[in-house]
Amino acid sequence: MVDVKPRQSWGSKLGIILAVAGSAVGLGNFLRFPVQAAQNGGGAFMLPYFISLLLLGIPLMWIEWAVGRYGGLFGHGTAPGMFHSLWKNRFIKYFGVIGIFGPLVILIYYTYIESWLLGYAFFSLTGHLSQAVGVESKGAFLSGYQGLVQNQFFQNLWPAYIFFVITFLANFWIISRGIKGGIEILCKIAMPILFIFGAIVAVRVLTLGVPDLTHPDWNIVNGLGYLWNPDFSVLTSAKVWLAAAGQIFFTLSVGIGVILTYASYLTKGDDVVLSGLTAAATNETAEVVLGGSIAIPAAFAFLGPVAITAVAQSGAFNLGFVTMPLIFDKIPLGMIFSFLWFVLLFLAGITSSVSLAEPAVAFMEDEFNLDRKKAVWILGIAVFLLIQPVIFLLGHGVVDELDFWGGTFCLVLFATIETILFTWVFGIDRAWEEIHHGAEMKLPKIYKFIIKYVTPLILIVILASWIWQQGLSVILMQGVTPANLPYILGTRIALVGLFLAIAILVKIAWRKRKAKQE
Ligand code: ALA
Repeated sequence: MVDVKPRQSWGSKLGIILAVAGSAVGLGNFLRFPVQAAQNGGGAFMLPYFISLLLLGIPLMWIEWAVGRYGGLFGHGTAPGMFHSLWKNRFIKYFGVIGIFGPLVILIYYTYIESWLLGYAFFSLTGHLSQAVGVESKGAFLSGYQGLVQNQFFQNLWPAYIFFVITFLANFWIISRGIKGGIEILCKIAMPILFIFGAIVAVRVLTLGVPDLTHPDWNIVNGLGYLWNPDFSVLTSAKVWLAAAGQIFFTLSVGIGVILTYASYLTKGDDVVLSGLTAAATNETAEVVLGGSIAIPAAFAFLGPVAITAVAQSGAFNLGFVTMPLIFDKIPLGMIFSFLWFVLLFLAGITSSVSLAEPAVAFMEDEFNLDRKKAVWILGIAVFLLIQPVIFLLGHGVVDELDFWGGTFCLVLFATIETILFTWVFGIDRAWEEIHHGAEMKLPKIYKFIIKYVTPLILIVILASWIWQQGLSVILMQGVTPANLPYILGTRIALVGLFLAIAILVKIAWRKRKAKQE
């Protein structure tokens, strides 16, 4: 075995499974999934969704667990070094930069949105949130909180800023405590609470019956049917397929780079097959059972089938921050349910955001030999500064821009590169053996075929069709309103700068390593 400096490790098998599940279960499950499902026709969305889960999500889970464990044995916790361990090519490490850059970009906006949940949990309990009566008022509450307008609810951004600072400090404090002493403990505590709160809110929603007697068909059963009655006609719509595949990536945290880093703390004999599957299954339970039985059926029962689609179209946050509080206002003890809903979302968020920060920290520890505290300080200061434009320029499309590049495009690109590298360059036979090393169950043979041919082919088709259909117009910023143009351009320049900065650090790290070997 190669001679590498000792790295951190997980305390238990349950710990790593809960940590990966914690990374996966996030705002994507409770805020993004219902909106995606509603925007794409409810039941129409679910068939492409499950096919994407089986052909992309789960295979990528196994690939990332296996590549991560393999790279970790060479002392690498992030994609540049892992890719280099798989293929001794001098350029491949630069493709790995995406696996540090992507999670960092998501972290920048994710932490801020996560902090709103803490704020909303607080204002649920104080009763401030329920003082906003009706849909417009709830919308005004959200815009006031975000600092987009001054109104009777909020005169300035201070409340949001205070909750942001608390959230930010909580994240970096946990990260500074390390893998076993920080992230693992957090996930062991937060995940069960999240499921208990989720189950309580879901049971309450499922027993709502018919809230509006003037519309007897607006009921929970029909609300569930809205999501679960399949619609085969949609299988030919490229848009729905792209949305479904994108959701699978985001929700499972695959293609981001974080699972690689978490798996790098495994040891050679640790199982990845059953563990990866368990983590994916936990995420899907949270997404389709809890996520699917809360926001969509509740919104259906209170608003009806037409309004629900309109709400989803009107903005990614409206279902979670406007519609759900409106519904809680109408049920007995609504304040408590509202509090549980936002706390559960906050816990889902924080177990994901710590994972988004880990690749950058691991990179500094592994490739620059920094001690963890120092690495966390450097990252903390950088992220704190980078979040400021997100907070203060919220109304100018900056979050959408970051979400598109960091949370959508990079995921598909990165997944394509790592899959081809692992199954074609490293070789499917070695890859299959690597996946099965220490495995507690054997994968069905069909998955060897899927991982080698089907997964990469679908990824290439998704990437190529995106470039063909939208690539040029996105690059030329054709859909951007003129007022937002300078902000979007500024964001893009900053993103290119961040990418180059990481690539330069990779170059320096490898030069140092070479000098040491000589
Ligand atoms: N997988 C995480 C989520 O769903 C990023 O929010």
